Parts: sequence; C-alpha cells; structure tokens
Amino acid sequence: MAVILGIESSCDETAASVCLDGKILSNVIASQGIHAKYGGVVPELASRAHMQHIIPVVNEAIERSGKSLNELDAIAFTQAPGLIGALLVGAQFAKSLSVSLQIPIIAVHHMQAHVLANLINDPKPGFPFLCLTVSGGHTQIVCCRSPFDLEVIGETRDDAAGEAFDKTAKILGLPYPGGPLIDKYAASGDSKRYKFPEPQIEGLDFSFSGLKTSILYFIQDGIKTDPEFIEKNLADICASVQARIVSILLNKLVKASKETGIKDVCIAGGVSANKGLRAAFEQTGNANNWNTFIPSFEYCTDNAAMIAITGYYKFLENKFSDISITPTARAAW
Ligand code: KG4
Ligand code: ZN
Repeated sequence: MAVILGIESSCDETAASVCLDGKILSNVIASQGIHAKYGGVVPELASRAHMQHIIPVVNEAIERSGKSLNELDAIAFTQAPGLIGALLVGAQFAKSLSVSLQIPIIAVHHMQAHVLANLINDPKPGFPFLCLTVSGGHTQIVCCRSPFDLEVIGETRDDAAGEAFDKTAKILGLPYPGGPLIDKYAASGDSKRYKFPEPQIEGLDFSFSGLKTSILYFIQDGIKTDPEFIEKNLADICASVQARIVSILLNKLVKASKETGIKDVCIAGGVSANKGLRAAFEQTGNANNWNTFIPSFEYCTDNAAMIAITGYYKFLENKFSDISITPTARAAW
C-alpha cells in the first residue's frame, strides 16, 4: 500500500492530490484569477498566491482523501519545468513536510506527468503508446514505452498550441486565458467559414507562429472594412481558428502513428480540454483504428493528481530524490 501526496505549483494553479496505489482519493486546485487583468501570468504574483494557497490546498486534499498526514508514504512535487519562483514554493513546502514527517520526496517532471495523467482512469493505454501533449508552454508528440521511457518524437519550433489559442484570444480582445473562451464561442460557429493556412513543416514538428500572424492580418483587414467585424463574426472566427489548430495537431499525430505503427494514442495537457480537439481526436481515432484515450477533464489542465500518479510509479521503483534537489525552470525529461 502506498499513499502519495502530489503537489503542483509550476504556473498559476496551486494544487494537491492524494493517491492510494494509483487511485486518486482527492484532487484540489486553487486557480489564480489575479492574472486575468494583466493578460498573462505575472510570475511574482503567481509565487505570492502559491504561498497563500499551499497550506489550505494541501490540508483540503488530505482531508478529502480520508487519510491523515501520518499515513503518507511519500511526497511528490513538480520539480520542472515552470516559473522558478512558483516551483520553489511547492518544492520547499514538499521538502519541509517530508523532513517533519520523515518520509521521502519524489521529483516529478511536469510534462511527463501530463502524459501519465492517461494512467489515472481505466481503461489505460498499453505500452508503447503515443501522446500528443498540448499545453500553454509545450506541444509534443511523445512515444511512451514505459512510465519512465518517454521520447519526444515531435515538438513545436515556436509557439505552443495553447499559446496559439491564447494569442488568438488576445487579438480578439478576449481575456487571459483565452483557450477556454475560444472553445466556448467555437461551439456555435461555422468552422468552414474562414480558411487559415496549414504550415508545411517537415517530419513530426509543429509551428504555430505563422498561423498567429495570419490571424492578426485577417482581423486587421476585417476591422478596416467593418469596425464591428469581430463582434459580428466572433463564433465563426473562433470555430475556424480552432478547426485549423486541431487539424495541424491531428495531421501530425496520424503521421506519427503511421511511422511508428503504434495504435494506442492519447492526448494530454490543458488544450486537451478543448471540446473540438476531443471530438476530432475520437473521429480520427475511429478512422485509423486507434485505441484512443483522453484524461478526464480535471486531469487535462494543470492538476496535482497527475503529479501524484507519476509519484506513485516512481515510488514503485524507489526513484526518490535527495533533499538537496532544487527546482529548475527548464529541464529535459
Ligand atoms: O497544461 P496547462 O493547464 O498549463 C501548462 O502546463 O501550460 O495548459 C494551459 C493552456 C492555456 O494555453 C489554455 O488556454 C489552454 O491550455 N486551454 C485550452 C482549453 N482549456 C485550457 N485551450 C483550448 N480550449 C480549452 N478548452
Ligand atoms: Zn501543464
């Protein structure tokens, strides 16, 4: 029996989760609304908000799990990548608690945890599987041969898919984070109304910066002819942009599956909460005879359940960290 506390603090969510032998008992998230008025995450404000939230969030996660602090076997925390001040809060908290409880700590890579969120619910993908991880900072196709044998076989050369959503939202005058709002407006729009270009990048890599520029020029031209262009066509613009981002992502995923022969295919990360992507992913899976896997909605965007589950797999292999470990803003797997 292993009871693992997971702590996530890499960006603007303070989160804690308790898992028992791979089963999530509690999953608590405090989101930081403060960043919306600045149009993006302000690192210093994020660190301060983590300081305020971390004790109540961990307390609530313990309480809801039905376990007590003394029953914990290890504490897993996000060690990289992320905002350094934000990571430090979670890391220092995890270390302090581990010293007082005399239990080990487990350092977790945030992007690995996004991928392994697919191992939380049943049915689980079999190894090897492919995972399209799409978040605010990353866009990767990962070949996952075991929980610890992960290889990035394709990634973005510039913006991440989440950034493409958020920057489009900014151009449209929508608040941060814009991804969920584009998703919402797209639901009632015509995705075929406007055509945006698909970048021609070789291999399994992505690029979103050209798309962002073409959206900017398209909107500027639209406003020249009608100052209310955005208001009048918001749903169709959102649906058309979303459809293009989704097709860029899925075309590469199909290519990756054909090249590797792997048919167990997952998505993960904040953008995998997008309804358009989820639906198109299922359709693409049916057309290509894939076994498709999508984490539950609450395990797509940043959360600590994915940290706890990754911690659990590391616990099974005694992959503990020394107390001297420090967080890093950037890190390979
Ligand atoms: O994984 P995540 O929560 O944090 C990072 O590790 O970056 O991803 C955040 C990103 C943001 O860019 C946000 O706009 C996007 O995920 N996102 C969405 C949706 N929900 C979150 N993008 C499109 N549609 C959504 N429903
Ligand atoms: Zn994330």
